[in-house]
Amino acid sequence: ETTQVGIVGGGPAGLMLSHLLSRAGIDNIVLEARDHETIKNTHRAGILETGAVEMLTDYGVDSRIKEIGYEHHGIDLRFNGESHRINFKELVDASVWLYPQNEVFVDLAAARSRDGGDVRYEHTVIGVEDAETDQPKIRYTDHEGNEGVIQARIIVGTDGSRSFCRRAIPSETRQEHKIEYPFAWFGILTEAPPSAEELVYANSPRGFALISQRNETVQRHYFQCDPDENPDDWTEDQIWDELQARVDGPDGFQLKRGPIFDKTVLKFRSFVAEPMRWGNLFLAGDAGHTVPPTGAKGLNLAFADVKILFNALEEFFKSGSTTGIDNYSETALKRVWKAQNFSYWMTSMLHTRDDATSFEARRAIGELQTVVGSKYGRQYLAESYCGWPHE
Ligand code: DHB
Repeated sequence: ETTQVGIVGGGPAGLMLSHLLSRAGIDNIVLEARDHETIKNTHRAGILETGAVEMLTDYGVDSRIKEIGYEHHGIDLRFNGESHRINFKELVDASVWLYPQNEVFVDLAAARSRDGGDVRYEHTVIGVEDAETDQPKIRYTDHEGNEGVIQARIIVGTDGSRSFCRRAIPSETRQEHKIEYPFAWFGILTEAPPSAEELVYANSPRGFALISQRNETVQRHYFQCDPDENPDDWTEDQIWDELQARVDGPDGFQLKRGPIFDKTVLKFRSFVAEPMRWGNLFLAGDAGHTVPPTGAKGLNLAFADVKILFNALEEFFKSGSTTGIDNYSETALKRVWKAQNFSYWMTSMLHTRDDATSFEARRAIGELQTVVGSKYGRQYLAESYCGWPHE
């Protein structure tokens, strides 16, 4: 079997790339190891930058974002028990949308099946071969265990942070840059009314907390925890008391409690693989880089990669020019490192290390005061949060 572009990984990045390629008349096949239901039920972050929203609404995905998503004009930074609003609209004339990543997946998967896209779920890639030649191959097994081979002109790995494609690149030809963090997030979904209209990012002596939402009846909250915390060790009351303790303040901010129906511990990592290309194999999204969740850059960054890569591939297949694909890694990595910096900055400013000295804790408050106390500080945060313009 042959195609022009073989896409390994059918999450939002892979499906968006497939959608854009098909619209441009470029043949492609997507292989995804998981089934549709599993991906649909994998809860991830819920904030989309303007540029990511535009990709969903302008390219015919028929996303429900404008109907069931919520436009947010700002966030609150909360510390010393006080909230400080960062007003995106006023500061940088931008906004973000609250719309969970699993809905993005559902919309893209629906658009792919509507348009006759070739997306094969439960297909596990077991080999990426000859990527340094013009006839790279993907070897896979389907859900019945039958083996198959797809020969493509280009292979793209959008197969997430544990990427098979990335590991197919010889280690001598790639560099890996990473840091680990001494904490994780305890995430819950609860059936309760919203506790705040927009997101609240809270720094407290007990650690970070994030008050986020899903809709009028379901809320998403997180609090900083130990990486090897076991969600089953926590009762509902303990979780609510811990969240409340981290947002307590003289203003009397109270969380609205409800039954908790999902508990997970999310591990933190910052990671970049360079370059994001080896021969005719390209990496996009989490396959090439992972950011910690603070600031919700993961999916947004993946979409930005996809846009750059799509433009480069269109140029290549239409005119034979390799300029775009030759520049892909360098162009994409510029934004990747900006997002790494932003995510790292938000993380370090808002979290509290167990071993932090009183100096370090007070310095972080000094940093938060500097940001919220200056229009330029708030503007810097707002611009980065809403997302830099796409290439
Ligand atoms: C959500 C997750 C994030 O990491 C973030 O920064 C904002 C929102 C969320 O799941 O709603």
